[in-house]
Amino acid sequence: MKSTVVITGANRGVGLALAEHYFDAGWRVLGVCRQSSEELDRVADHVFDGVDVTKAHDVARLAEALNGQAVDLLINNAGLLRDESLGSIDFDSIREQMEINAYAPLRVAEALLPTLKKGSKIANITSRMGSIADNDSGGRYGYRASKAALNAFGKSLAMDLKPQGIAVAQLHPGYVQTRMVNFGGLISPQEAALGIAARIEALTLENSGGFWHSNGESLPW
Ligand SMILES: NC(=O)c1ccc[n+]([C@@H]2O[C@H](COP(=O)([O-])OP(=O)(O)OC[C@H]3O[C@@H](n4cnc5c(N)ncnc54)[C@H](OP(=O)(O)O)[C@@H]3O)[C@@H](O)[C@H]2O)c1
Repeated sequence: MKSTVVITGANRGVGLALAEHYFDAGWRVLGVCRQSSEELDRVADHVFDGVDVTKAHDVARLAEALNGQAVDLLINNAGLLRDESLGSIDFDSIREQMEINAYAPLRVAEALLPTLKKGSKIANITSRMGSIADNDSGGRYGYRASKAALNAFGKSLAMDLKPQGIAVAQLHPGYVQTRMVNFGGLISPQEAALGIAARIEALTLENSGGFWHSNGESLPW
């Protein structure tokens, strides 16, 4: 029987590359997005569109639609990068990133718990910018704080879900050529997806809760 992966933000960027990777590997791909793309339609077994991951109602609808299905892997990938300038900090911008990058992955993971079973995994696509130890350039208040919060949520999920046999990883994709960074990254979405998939493959209950770069490097909190 095919394994099933649920990917948020699957219509473009890293999420789409992950959808294509798991399709090529013979998985059943369930893509979650606000609006699908031709590329996602080509590889997804089913697309759940119209899902804004910050909306409790949309996430509840997704969970209801998935009710009774077994999900082997949940990838919380949808994310948002904005910038704020010290002196005129836009708190709405910070709030928006907290909603998308931190609260939404926790909300989706909690809502989809009934679909996860012993051996299932959750991959939270975080960022190295969420590392407080690694922050040597400042700024990006909302993005850094939201990814740090996601890391904290992911660690607690790892602790809480270990008894159920579910492992959780916080994964930095690398600096990837997507719209988020005006396609100025160092690696392609395909390369990032390969690395992320390798980290997910290597994720076990023993190393659950860790924070890794897609290249395998363990990252400091
Ligand atoms: N690119 C990098 O260098 C880099 C570095 C570190 C971490 N990351 C992380 O990698 C993940 C993927 O980023 P990316 O580079 O692929 O960015 P991207 O190309 O900008 O894609 C972002 C994805 O998130 C979705 N999304 C945003 N807000 C959403 C919402 N409220 N509800 C549902 N979907 C939403 C977008 O959907 P729409 O098309 O509907 O907007 C899109 O599918 C993110 O978590 C990001 O923080 C990226």
